[in-house]
Amino acid sequence: MDLGIDGNAALVTASSAGLGKASALALAAEGVDVTICGRDGSRLSAAADDVDEAGSGDVHPVRADVTDPDDVTRLVDETVEAFGGLDHLVTSAGNPPSTTFLETTERQWYQAYDQLVMSTVWTIERACPHLRESSAGTIVCLTSRTVTEAVDGLLLSNTVRRGVSGLVQTLSREFAPEIRANSVLPGLIETDSVVDLLEAGVERGEYADYDEGLAALSADVPLGRIGDPAELGAVVAFLSSERASYVNGAEVPIDGGTIRG
Ligand SMILES: NC(=O)c1ccc[n+]([C@@H]2O[C@H](COP(=O)([O-])OP(=O)(O)OC[C@H]3O[C@@H](n4cnc5c(N)ncnc54)[C@H](OP(=O)(O)O)[C@@H]3O)[C@@H](O)[C@H]2O)c1
Repeated sequence: MDLGIDGNAALVTASSAGLGKASALALAAEGVDVTICGRDGSRLSAAADDVDEAGSGDVHPVRADVTDPDDVTRLVDETVEAFGGLDHLVTSAGNPPSTTFLETTERQWYQAYDQLVMSTVWTIERACPHLRESSAGTIVCLTSRTVTEAVDGLLLSNTVRRGVSGLVQTLSREFAPEIRANSVLPGLIETDSVVDLLEAGVERGEYADYDEGLAALSADVPLGRIGDPAELGAVVAFLSSERASYVNGAEVPIDGGTIRG
């Protein structure tokens, strides 16, 4: 299926690895020029090589921390300067720490808010005038299945991410019809952070080996396995595309059917 976005320009935040990178790869494979970002320079340049190889468009890597509003301003400005405009914004962020309520400090609450909510607010605010100038403006925010059901041990994600859901739902009305805004809700997807989690479980003796850990995490997934990052990237590219022109305000689970609802 031709997604009809060849030659457009996209910014994907927190995209030197994992789900952000998978989204950048999927957009690049459709011929989109893509800005990617991350804090670690060597990881960023390796990711830029991969995104460059994925398609015919240009890739523009920018070292930036999405929890720093000045970095976010520079990220959007450099994207528009490099590509002459901006058609698609995809927001992702890092992982908040896994904590329980009684051990979580006030500082961690505010950090999680900046990491998940304010990074998204700043990016959309800076990108909005450029997306409005595009005839194809879209926003896709990566959240989590934790916006629909509380996952044990993920207090900050369970609580704070719901702010991003509310933001996207609101913007899908406020920015329409010029810009469509949707979000994707990943379940477990095999990125570096999940690999680290499993390896730590093996180290602690919770699983005999990596495959046993993978099987344990897959037990509650109706499709019987955790996801591949490319399966999320494909949905992000579709939602950003002309083929999804009547999809606005949707929250799309990408979780193999884990969410009951
Ligand atoms: N994988 C899953 O199963 C899953 C499920 C539900 C939700 N999620 C959520 O989806 C998001 C992405 O997850 P992931 O698994 O892809 O994580 P990941 O594999 O750890 O990758 C995170 C990416 O974000 C970048 N990043 C982190 N903090 C950043 C910051 N402050 N500024 C700029 N870039 C930053 C990292 O690069 P640097 O560290 O170099 O900056 C890296 O490129 C997270 O919010 C995660 O909680 C993931």
